[in-house]
Amino acid sequence: MHTMKRICFVCLGNICRSPLAEGVFRDLTRQAGPVNEFDAESAGIANYHVGDPPDPRSVRVAAQHGIVLDGLGKQFRAKDFDRFDLVLALDRDIYAALERLAPNGAARAKIHMLRAYDPQATTTLDVPDPYYGNSSHFDRVYDMVERSCRGLLAAAMDGR
Ligand code: 4NP
Repeated sequence: MHTMKRICFVCLGNICRSPLAEGVFRDLTRQAGPVNEFDAESAGIANYHVGDPPDPRSVRVAAQHGIVLDGLGKQFRAKDFDRFDLVLALDRDIYAALERLAPNGAARAKIHMLRAYDPQATTTLDVPDPYYGNSSHFDRVYDMVERSCRGLLAAAMDGR
């Protein structure tokens, strides 16, 4: 019997990268069966897109993989650290911003890079911001996010 693991994926705007990570991770947990062992959410460091739907380019790439993105943009706040066991940053700037926001050491210990779980990550652990990019940037983001979410799920189910 596992205890519920609460995970929040965090990017800048919560409309491109972190909604994809949330959708992919939820889809993987549904396929693997342990959906009730995980609570996955996403949020942004910035407040620019609070209340906005996910970017249509993220919606498109998710749909190509049979995943529906729902949820509206939310901002990650200091008090949210209490609600999660793992707070996963999509790039190193987000990681640094989360560290500045963390109210104490227990909160700081929850922050990790999502791509630390990507077995193909080499020189960088960033999922690059695709907002000013084109659809091929979103395809690359999807691939990194999917590999990372698979690694994350394997690690979490091993209790690591
Ligand atoms: P995200 O992408 O952090 O992956 O959601 C962005 C979305 C919006 C902006 C930047 C990045 N923006 O500047 O509005």
